[in-house]
Amino acid sequence: MTDVPEPAVPEPAVPAPAGRPRRLCVVGAGYVGLTAAACFAHLGHDVTCVERDPGRLAVLQDGGIPIHEPGLGELVTSGRAAGRLRFTADVAPALDGADAAFLCVGTPPQPSGEPDLSYLATAARELARHAASDLVVVVKSTVPPGSCEALELVCAEEARPGVAIDVVSSPEFLRESRAVEDFLAPDRVVVGADDAGVARMVADLYPSGCPVVVCDRRGAELVKYAANTFLAIKISFANEVAQLCDALGTEAAAVLAGVGADHRIGREFLRPGPGYGGSCLPKDVAGFVSLGAAAGTCTDLAEAAEAQNTRARHSVVERLDSVLGGLAGRRIGVLGLAFKDGTDDTRDSPGLQIVEDLVAAGADVATYDPLVDARLPAGSRMPTPADAVSGADAIVVTVASDEYRALDPMETAESMAGRVVFDAAGVLDLDVWGSAGLTVYGVGRGVPHSFYPVVWTPLRWTTARRTAEAA
Ligand SMILES: NC(=O)c1ccc[n+]([C@@H]2O[C@H](COP(=O)([O-])OP(=O)(O)OC[C@H]3O[C@@H](n4cnc5c(N)ncnc54)[C@H](O)[C@@H]3O)[C@@H](O)[C@H]2O)c1
Repeated sequence: MTDVPEPAVPEPAVPAPAGRPRRLCVVGAGYVGLTAAACFAHLGHDVTCVERDPGRLAVLQDGGIPIHEPGLGELVTSGRAAGRLRFTADVAPALDGADAAFLCVGTPPQPSGEPDLSYLATAARELARHAASDLVVVVKSTVPPGSCEALELVCAEEARPGVAIDVVSSPEFLRESRAVEDFLAPDRVVVGADDAGVARMVADLYPSGCPVVVCDRRGAELVKYAANTFLAIKISFANEVAQLCDALGTEAAAVLAGVGADHRIGREFLRPGPGYGGSCLPKDVAGFVSLGAAAGTCTDLAEAAEAQNTRARHSVVERLDSVLGGLAGRRIGVLGLAFKDGTDDTRDSPGLQIVEDLVAAGADVATYDPLVDARLPAGSRMPTPADAVSGADAIVVTVASDEYRALDPMETAESMAGRVVFDAAGVLDLDVWGSAGLTVYGVGRGVPHSFYPVVWTPLRWTTARRTAEAA
């Protein structure tokens, strides 16, 4: 008998940047900055991350991470252990020998819809003041077209004599809850620069093998706004179809699966729900609209997406109000406060909006979210989903979480005072929950347990023909 050699087990691919390892400074240790810093260190670069919030910095310097992001803690720990990742409040040492500095600070929305660029300007000035030699500043924050050019002028004013600062755009596209995965295997890297050599150097910092789009700075800045606006339009379109499905008594999931199966359209983001939220989509659609206003172009599609989203966000409580015949004094359990599953981020969250609308309508609200900070206002926070639904006249599910999908309908029904469930996230099985004696409402799930007698043109035509034949 001859020995059969064991099949060779392929070595896991070692992540590497497209170019040589560099010394990098990353400013801002939020969702984007901390992910970028940890992933760049994982790729072999030497990274110093600057964070000005003393609380955040203390957590990082103690070896923890201040946000919830799967896989990020492990990368931070291994980067620190390898001596390739460190955190500081001081820009000067972080810039020592750095080839590039990434700006990853917040650009929050202002009431006008335009982003507040003051954090970015402050951070750019600090970089320019402390740069001892030529530096490439890469703007990862989402900024309107023209911002990199303006920041380059700001840097030129502050820079020491003889120090040249190039400002380059490389917007970030990561999704919270999948930030590490997206950063290390992005659909694309976008680099906007005036100088081809600088663009190459920046593109080569990212993982090898990922598609790279190189363009001018205004183009790169616009890619981010246009991409997020398109995603928002897709979500609002799904909600528009869902409203039609509710009116016609049919299931949006099947309709949208049929629509999304066309590869020109795609299935992603064609899910009805309580509207989009988070720190990016609402802000970036508003930014896109204000860009159009400033440039004198039409942004009707983006504005329609916003209007539809506002409707989607308020319709949950409006429908609950009509089903329950009023919300004052009713106890409502809300499952999900973050803007989506798998994150602790509540910025512009539909779940929080629902809680706010319920409280404004006089409801007594009990909430649950496994990742969200217990200090949040509005409604009393419960330690388990069972506590949040216990004694409730109705419950609302706001995010598509497996934890809520796995709830026992019989146990839930027994602990509730009422029979109404509003599954805005579309995670519960209507039949199973219906057989537990509960009435489940949702977005685009038809009208349960009753036929909604819509008579639109084709049915009217059939009815008219039958009547004519009978006569
Ligand atoms: N969160 C996302 O999913 C995401 C995805 C793509 C792009 N973006 C964009 O990236 C940018 C950052 O977003 P975020 O969610 O990471 O924000 P964030 O608020 O989570 O993090 C920003 C961090 O920068 C720090 N900071 C501010 N000014 C500083 C300074 N001068 N020096 C040092 N640190 C400073 C803040 O303390 C904070 O920790 C925004 O423009 C956002 O639109 C965000």
